Amino acid sequence: MKENIKDLYINFFVSKGHKQIPSSSVVPENDPTCLFNTAGMQPLVPYLLGAKHPLGTRLCDFQKCFRLTDLDEVGDNYHHTFFEMLGNWSLGDYFKKEAISWSFEFLTKVLNLDINRLAFTVFAGNEYVPADEESASLWEAQGVSRDRIAFLPAEDNWWPSMEQFGPCGSDTEMFYWIDNETPAPKVFDPSDKRWMEIWNNVFMQFNHLESGEFVQLKQKNVDTGMGVERTTAVLDGLDDNYLTEIWQPIIKEIEKLSNKNYSDHKKPMRVIADHMRAIVMIAGDDAGIVPSNTDQGYILRRLIRRVIRFAKSIEIDTSTNFENGIIDIIVDQFKNYYPEILKNEQTIKNVFMEEKNKFNKTLENGLKEFDKIINGFERKQEFLRRTDPNAVVERKITGKTAFNLYETYGFPIEMTEEIARERGIDVDTSNFKQLFAEHQEKSKQGSEQKFKGGLSDASVETARLHTATHLMQAGLQKYVSADIRQKGSNITPERLRFDFNCDHKLTEEEIKKVEDFVNEAIKAEIPVTCEELTPAKAHEIGALGVFDDRYGDIVTVYTIGSLSKEICCGPHAKNTKELHHFKIIKEESSSSGVRRIKAILD
Ligand code: SER
Repeated sequence: MKENIKDLYINFFVSKGHKQIPSSSVVPENDPTCLFNTAGMQPLVPYLLGAKHPLGTRLCDFQKCFRLTDLDEVGDNYHHTFFEMLGNWSLGDYFKKEAISWSFEFLTKVLNLDINRLAFTVFAGNEYVPADEESASLWEAQGVSRDRIAFLPAEDNWWPSMEQFGPCGSDTEMFYWIDNETPAPKVFDPSDKRWMEIWNNVFMQFNHLESGEFVQLKQKNVDTGMGVERTTAVLDGLDDNYLTEIWQPIIKEIEKLSNKNYSDHKKPMRVIADHMRAIVMIAGDDAGIVPSNTDQGYILRRLIRRVIRFAKSIEIDTSTNFENGIIDIIVDQFKNYYPEILKNEQTIKNVFMEEKNKFNKTLENGLKEFDKIINGFERKQEFLRRTDPNAVVERKITGKTAFNLYETYGFPIEMTEEIARERGIDVDTSNFKQLFAEHQEKSKQGSEQKFKGGLSDASVETARLHTATHLMQAGLQKYVSADIRQKGSNITPERLRFDFNCDHKLTEEEIKKVEDFVNEAIKAEIPVTCEELTPAKAHEIGALGVFDDRYGDIVTVYTIGSLSKEICCGPHAKNTKELHHFKIIKEESSSSGVRRIKAILD
């Protein structure tokens, strides 16, 4: 593809009356249930639920997305952790007719895809919505044959799924025949993997409440999503995403560094390429994520460590700064679309290098541990031979020891086996695999928990806590220090968590004053108002804003009487009286120079 698909997409939808919105941070704001944005629509949830978007009812963008659920699948030809999603939205504006005709026009007129290689699925119907005959007829009206339209149940054509909460609805999905050797069959068989899904239009009409009910939304929305990496491969006629111009410069650099060919070492090279892009986009995000043992920081740590392990496996010298050449290529690819990546280039390099040095050290310790295990066998043998000169000690590393090497020292089983083999030792891999599977199941449950429900959080509780957060920040500025600013915010329906710059532990008196300030504001029953302004105007009237460079042309400012004015996308309580009573339950250090408060409304 000569032109970048992102530019083609945005130009097309702007020509259809859409406003381009900037990509949000890779980390969702105010959504603790989700570590990363996993879809383009995620930052738009409040608007899909009915809040008014300052830029209107037709929006489009490209969004940084990250799906941890794919981590173990990375290494095949099309799964990625980090990817970009193109999307266009109707917020109670157009519905199926326009969505389908524009999708068709974009596929066949802009991307010039051959209609003979396209097929479509529509929803087969359930208790909430009948079979989507309308969408099927709309595709037919574009010249698509009935044979190429399949009706599928909710497992396939309901987004995100019948189980997840939040805005949702049936969808229609678009498929492209990727086999260049065989012509596309006349009749569409969705189970044939050579039909590759490239885009979907979700007709978002419901809100799935935690009570289990599906209620009609105030408005009928359209939410679409097209993966940049996959569609680029389709357009280039390739069945391996890594062969496209997106990935080739990175793969070539890895080939150079390892002095090996991609065709002989696909898996490690794909993992390195995929993870390096994810690392650049996470460490280069303005959210300021650094490797740690929790949440996003832990994912970043795992990604860097996996890169190093796979780099070693293809004999890249990891004692050098091998990563810098790869980082340069990725920054270059993204800098015109996400300016923060260029700005944070040095940070990305530092983050990688520090973590690499730490990991190399851990690996060294792991190798020492390995030596100890082997010495143990030898000592045992020597000891037994004192009584029985023919005694032979079984030189086998137990599954538990291998698992310990994995967990504590980050030794993948392949590495343990390899070193063991060199030293004439066996490894109980089947027991290791069992322990590993149990461990994975546990961590999968943990991460699924984090990835679930991320779309739902616009509840009354979080809206109240959100307003409390604004008031609390105002109280901190008034009673602790005028230059206090938000460094992070995380709200669950149960509590708020707020990180802010501060050079000391808050005194009891300070905490009390802030609590009283918020509770007095609650008693004063102040209305919370909201207005749409240009960012310049918002700053002029003194609104606080944390992520200025990410705003579009118009921002929403929430005002709580004379107490607080902040740029924010909401949602908020309508009046402070809805907050009842505010209490700080914890004040602690978060990182150097940053304090963290947890507070509740009771
Ligand atoms: N939300 C849908 C998806 O992620 C369409 O944008 O596929």
